[in-house]
Amino acid sequence: MDTANKLNTAAEYIKSKTKFRPKLGIILGSGLGDFGDRLEGAEYCDYKDIPDFPISTVEGHKGRFVITKDLICMQGRFHFYEGYNMEEVTAPVRVMSLLGVDKLIVTNAAGGVNLDFKPGDLMLITDHINFMGTNPLIGKNLDTFGVRFPDMSEGYNKHMIELAKKCASEIGVNIKEGVYFAMTGPSYETPAEIRMVRALGGDAVGMSTAAEVIVANHCGIKTLGISCITNMAAGIAQKSLNHEEVIETSNTAKEKFILLLERIVSCMI
Ligand code: HPA
Repeated sequence: MDTANKLNTAAEYIKSKTKFRPKLGIILGSGLGDFGDRLEGAEYCDYKDIPDFPISTVEGHKGRFVITKDLICMQGRFHFYEGYNMEEVTAPVRVMSLLGVDKLIVTNAAGGVNLDFKPGDLMLITDHINFMGTNPLIGKNLDTFGVRFPDMSEGYNKHMIELAKKCASEIGVNIKEGVYFAMTGPSYETPAEIRMVRALGGDAVGMSTAAEVIVANHCGIKTLGISCITNMAAGIAQKSLNHEEVIETSNTAKEKFILLLERIVSCMI
């Protein structure tokens, strides 16, 4: 079966499992799964039950869509470093598009590169640098989704950024802004790589998001991105990095992050 057919099959399956037709999608990054658990009256669709859909393997991710009248959340995403190809990494975004989603909030955990940041900070993504060495749109263009050469000059929607800033200030959450620099991982960066990231204009570094946002833009979905700075990137704090620290900080910051997300969502629906 070709890609477009697979995506249609997946979308039709989800439509058959829920009466909800939400227009706002959310990709929940590490530690944010609780946001999905707290949605009242939600319906669930496990990735493993969706025909032709990949299965999430990383710790701390559940692997399902949580669907309400207004929202469809991904609890767990597919990372390139897990061995999924770019078509698989971005399949959920295209499926959401087929379900009628026209706005997307993408969240992630990231390492702080900007020296003004500290662990636990939230950063609105103003732009990204895709340093993954590939692009999810390589291959035959899926014309039903979008054009061959999509514009990325406003990959992260300015109105949504302004709205998110307003929401943050209303609830007293301090929020940073910056450029998300996407690497494949899974090894964390070296200190020399982090100096390169900074020299090239990155404020935070992570292993997701860029591909999903490229595909969202391709299908005309307006996108907002928010990073939780879980650690200072390699070579900054003069200590070693580990996944446990990332999970620990995202757990500490999650109440603030969820509060902000709830506020943003209530302004968008
Ligand atoms: N580097 C890359 N990805 C990350 C990091 C980091 O330091 N922290 C959380 N995700």
